[in-house]
Amino acid sequence: MFENRQPAPPDSILGLTEAFKADPNPAKVNLGVGVYKDPSGQTPVLASVKAAEARLLAGETSKSYLPITGDPAYGSLVQGMLFGEAALDNRVRTAHTPGGTGALRVGGDFIKAMHPDASIWVSSPTWANHKGIFSAAGLKIEDYRYYDPVTHAVDEEGFFEDLARVPAGDVVLLHLCCHNPTGADLSSEQWGRLAGLAAERGFVPFFDFAYQGFGDSVEADCAPLRAFVSAGMEFLVANSFSKNVGLYNERTGGLSIVARSAAEADAAFSHMKLSIRTNYSNPSSHGGGIVKTILSDADLKTQWMEELAGMRDRIKEMRSTLVQGLAARGVGQDFSFIEKQRGMFSFSSLGDEQVRCLREEKSIYIVKGGRINVAGILPGNADYLCDAIAGVL
Ligand code: LMR
Repeated sequence: MFENRQPAPPDSILGLTEAFKADPNPAKVNLGVGVYKDPSGQTPVLASVKAAEARLLAGETSKSYLPITGDPAYGSLVQGMLFGEAALDNRVRTAHTPGGTGALRVGGDFIKAMHPDASIWVSSPTWANHKGIFSAAGLKIEDYRYYDPVTHAVDEEGFFEDLARVPAGDVVLLHLCCHNPTGADLSSEQWGRLAGLAAERGFVPFFDFAYQGFGDSVEADCAPLRAFVSAGMEFLVANSFSKNVGLYNERTGGLSIVARSAAEADAAFSHMKLSIRTNYSNPSSHGGGIVKTILSDADLKTQWMEELAGMRDRIKEMRSTLVQGLAARGVGQDFSFIEKQRGMFSFSSLGDEQVRCLREEKSIYIVKGGRINVAGILPGNADYLCDAIAGVL
């Protein structure tokens, strides 16, 4: 079976972390994978998480299986985070999944089971793993125009032109906030227009929501969902607690389906259970337990929200540091767009040759295509980074 196999190429994001770890240069900088770093370069366990874990450990009485879709109380708390007070008339069901990636894959399998001929439409560009996940689920993939590299913003005309061609029953993957890799999000007017188009065309939105709280706030970042809820349509949401609760290695996320009625939601959810059962059977409990403990305790929730705001503010500060640092080095090119981008990433406009040079000559690791993890910029490496980028421009 393994004879004459050539090695597969390294993963375009996680492969960079492997290369970074092997690099002996003490000045090396990892701006690849989307992981938060504090000013000292650590990815901390949040204090609210530590407190929740202490309670969990003290109160745990069994390690028996969770239900296939996880603890229903976890599902309700996730729904509260996504939909707040929105009137959903019992139309939503949520499964606890292994991270956002697990939610996307279960979603892909579920779509394939519901609609074997459906295509899934993804933004150009999109997160490097999206196409792999959905093609592994057997779905056909189409691209829609999204980003204009000249304006560094959403290509509104191209976006709506392409989505107006999506046939009824196809699925459209949308990044709800902090678009990965571009950091360019739709405006509230554009979301409203999109909800109208989805209802008119009959395509099914599938929201990837990996960065809730990294745009403006936990509440503001899910506001675009309201237009889709009030239109009464079907859609899916994959959410992740990797970034906003810092639970990267606990693999904690959710897949929510919103149906047109409670009965349709129950039927759809029973099929989602089949996809989960034949994949990983049921989720592991620790990460979901942490999220449940934090979200159901007012003090822990406040503490977590403050910690999340701290991460968001530090990233914004580093955006300004980068823009000002480049300007101070006499770089002619206008990089002010970096301050307008949202979330963890900046689509820097660095070309693949510049990215290669920075890696080979300066040990600065950036994803091909020019995506920078802004959270990897630290007070201690910003000057080195600005000097190096100015040097390749
Ligand atoms: C990223 O885009 O860097 C993160 O979502 C981590 C990953 O799994 O790729």
